[in-house]
Amino acid sequence: MCGIIGYTGPRACKGLILDGLERLEYRGYDSAGIVLLEDGALVRDRTVGKVADLRRLVGDNGSPATLGMGHTRWATHGGVFDRNAHPFLSNDGRIAVLMNGIVENYVDLRAEVVAGGHTLSSDTDTEALVHLLADAYEGDLVEAVRKVYPRLDGHFAFLALARDEPDRIVAARLAWPPLVVGKGDGEMYIASFLPAFLEQTRQVQHVEEGEIVDLRPDGARFWPIAGGPARERAVEEADATIEVAEKGGYETFMLKEIHEQPRAIADTIGERYRDGELHLDGIGLSDAELAEIDRVLIVGCGTALHAGLVGRYLIEEWAGVATEADVASEWRYRKAVFDPRTLVLAISQSGETADTLAAVQLARERGARVVAITNVMGSAVTRVADGVLYTRAGLEISVGSSKCFTAQIALMTLFALRLAQLRWRLEPARIAEIGRELERLPELVQRLLDDAAMHAKVEQLAREFSTHRFFLFLGRHIGLPICQEGALKLKELSYIPTDAYAAGEMKHGPIALLTDETPVVAVATDSHVYEKIVSNLQEVKARGAAVIAVVTEGNTNIHEHAQHVIEVPRTLPELEPILAVIPLQLLAYHIARELGLDIDKPRNLAKTVTVE
Ligand code: G6P
Repeated sequence: MCGIIGYTGPRACKGLILDGLERLEYRGYDSAGIVLLEDGALVRDRTVGKVADLRRLVGDNGSPATLGMGHTRWATHGGVFDRNAHPFLSNDGRIAVLMNGIVENYVDLRAEVVAGGHTLSSDTDTEALVHLLADAYEGDLVEAVRKVYPRLDGHFAFLALARDEPDRIVAARLAWPPLVVGKGDGEMYIASFLPAFLEQTRQVQHVEEGEIVDLRPDGARFWPIAGGPARERAVEEADATIEVAEKGGYETFMLKEIHEQPRAIADTIGERYRDGELHLDGIGLSDAELAEIDRVLIVGCGTALHAGLVGRYLIEEWAGVATEADVASEWRYRKAVFDPRTLVLAISQSGETADTLAAVQLARERGARVVAITNVMGSAVTRVADGVLYTRAGLEISVGSSKCFTAQIALMTLFALRLAQLRWRLEPARIAEIGRELERLPELVQRLLDDAAMHAKVEQLAREFSTHRFFLFLGRHIGLPICQEGALKLKELSYIPTDAYAAGEMKHGPIALLTDETPVVAVATDSHVYEKIVSNLQEVKARGAAVIAVVTEGNTNIHEHAQHVIEVPRTLPELEPILAVIPLQLLAYHIARELGLDIDKPRNLAKTVTVE
């Protein structure tokens, strides 16, 4: 996590760096800092808080600096204090460093620099690095980085400046934290993520794992850390536009992204389904290999895992393949059982999540085939998997995921159908029926998002329940992961404790929590378990708790069992989750709004989690 950006060129760069940091803030927003080379000195400012706080601190005065870099932090080593905010300066003021990631052997390195006579002013791992670089520096920053880099364990991307090299930024990358270079007209950018400088240039070069990058205003040179000549690196034209990083008239990115779901689903399905034919280009396995798969293991974190849990039901139901889904951070420490016919599906919106990447690496080492599902072109997971299926949701900025979740489910649906087709588990007519419904999905999602009565109902519920202290979510079968996602969304956005339970399991514990003060949110769309969930709602009602039920349109009977009803359009039961989650996203949204919280940047969270 953490967002980093650097600039070298002819222009005054303070504003460029602050603007870039704002676009990187989704990566972390505990504290922010900037260092500029002004009149031959490295001038550093940093503060706890958001980039807006840093902007207030440094003011709008026109700094003449044409070399600088900035950082937005998600704390790992060291609490959220000014002293732990990046950048760090060497004691002699000659070197500045900032970093995204972790140096694992920092305890030894900190002890070493203290023994070497340096004074530490923070609790971080990064500060050791700046002192090591200062010791190694003999007038050439690339050489200093070359000497120090092999001493660092962990996974990181860092940028360094030297006071005496006034137009140079040196960067290095180990493992997955990303870095991308932007090539302007006589100026260069480097950042964790493209949107940081997309307004200035669309010409990009990707930094590979294990590389040092030497940036000067006229270009970048890429060196393998292991030694050898500089590597050629193509300049590519980025296909994203800056508009995607704007709110486009919505009050938050989250609301914009919720409303972008019809397009995200439509683009993800795209040409992959046509007239009964499924085309999963990029999957990295031949049809014969796919047909042979007899076990699927799905790994992911957070929202991505919930999409995987939906996929589990679909793969088992349609393709008849044994499937399990697990949290990547747990799965990687289990002794999961593989054979050559096991397929691992790794789902990650960002393609950067450390635990998911580690799970993929482990699976590959043990001989499994791995297919990644991600939304970010060229992200780390795409480099370690056998094949990649991209969701085409467009850039997702809000920390709480919405459109990527439904796009991931759409992709899991296509994958399950393809597997079923190759294994001859579904009749062509049934595949065509599901395919037709899939094609209608964007329109149904749009209809739901255009439903003023649904919005009014959700907003009324938000007003009524925003001060309640606990929410229980209940679902069954494929509705259960939707409840898990709804509960996650509500807790991350509103900080209200929530739990999501299999409705049938409620009586084995959570029922003890029910009072007339406990709202219970149920996904009760039409399915073969509808009657079962209705029975569970009776048990809830008997304890005086208020029920908010998400049901399929036209359900008149639910009013006997639930005080509050939200209808979603009718589709096949297997596809209904994509619709059912939308009111839950909006409920979380409006409750957080009622509470006056920062919806796009909830407390303590980050969009990409590059630490384990
Ligand atoms: C963080 C984000 C979540 C996301 C999860 C997994 O916790 O806040 O929104 O679901 O990471 O991220 P990934 O990029 O791997 O899907």
